[in-house]
Amino acid sequence: MSDDARVVRMAKSGPMMVEGPVRIEMEDGRVVESDRFMVAICTCKRSKIYPLCDTSHRKKLRAKN
Ligand code: FES
Repeated sequence: MSDDARVVRMAKSGPMMVEGPVRIEMEDGRVVESDRFMVAICTCKRSKIYPLCDTSHRKKLRAKN
């Protein structure tokens, strides 16, 4: 594996962290781009700015405790 491979970190009950910049192509043709160093991609689908994480997943965690 080359050293310049894209790093993706999976967080338990949280977003998928991807080294930026990223270009996300949605199934409806919409394109979402972020030039952040690290981009949090929503995996819970509760984000108001989906496909990017807005930390709404934390509300779900708090409700369980
Ligand atoms: S993973 Fe953070 S809002 Fe969905």
